Amino acid sequence: MNSEDYKRQAAAAALEFVEPGMRLGLGTGSTAKHFVELLADRVRAGLDVVGVATSEATRTDAERLGLPLTTLDETPELDLTIDGADEIAPDLTLIKGGGGALLHEKIVAAASSRMIVIADESKWVALLGRFPLPVEVVSFGLAATRRAIESAAAGAGAPGPISLRRTRDGHAFVTEAGHLILDAALTRIIEPPLLADRLAEIPGVVEHGLFIGLAKTAIIAGPDGVRIVERP
Ligand code: A5P
Repeated sequence: MNSEDYKRQAAAAALEFVEPGMRLGLGTGSTAKHFVELLADRVRAGLDVVGVATSEATRTDAERLGLPLTTLDETPELDLTIDGADEIAPDLTLIKGGGGALLHEKIVAAASSRMIVIADESKWVALLGRFPLPVEVVSFGLAATRRAIESAAAGAGAPGPISLRRTRDGHAFVTEAGHLILDAALTRIIEPPLLADRLAEIPGVVEHGLFIGLAKTAIIAGPDGVRIVERP
């Protein structure tokens, strides 16, 4: 088995939490893509659900597979969001945004009664921070915002270099909401809530990839099988 098999196993286990009539948030990334595919199989077999996509990639997949979609404007309250993550700590605090969709992912998760995060075992970490923390920022005042993030991270005990995310061809990566992403390589985020508070105080920061208190359940698949972890 490889990591794609484990991602698909976690996605399949998440299907057990889906009930007829549910309004679902559909995450972004390779693990969420497995879930969308498996959910579409169920829908073709008669399951009645509707989804809100967290990105154009997910929307395109869902449409291609015949999954009924709505928007948060039409359906502002969701029952369940299923999404992947870049890192998952034991208290189910997450780092998300490796795919650049963190803003829409967080809005959708926050509009849901429940969020389940699905992942292969490699995403489970004792301490967040090995994966660079994505911070979505406006382009105006980028250098000043970057310095403020550096200082906020150092003040929260997590100093580290911060780089502008670029596409493969070297251009700045632009999010679907038209913002930029600064990736903060902080190595060890000892106090995620403190860092989150400090980042939220910076005017040029739109959102950051720390998801605190949002995921209620994690479904983790690895060589030892699938385990379900509830937020303590
Ligand atoms: C997208 O912006 C991210 O938050 C993804 O959910 C995260 O990067 C996990 O992606 P994979 O499932 O592809 O690892």
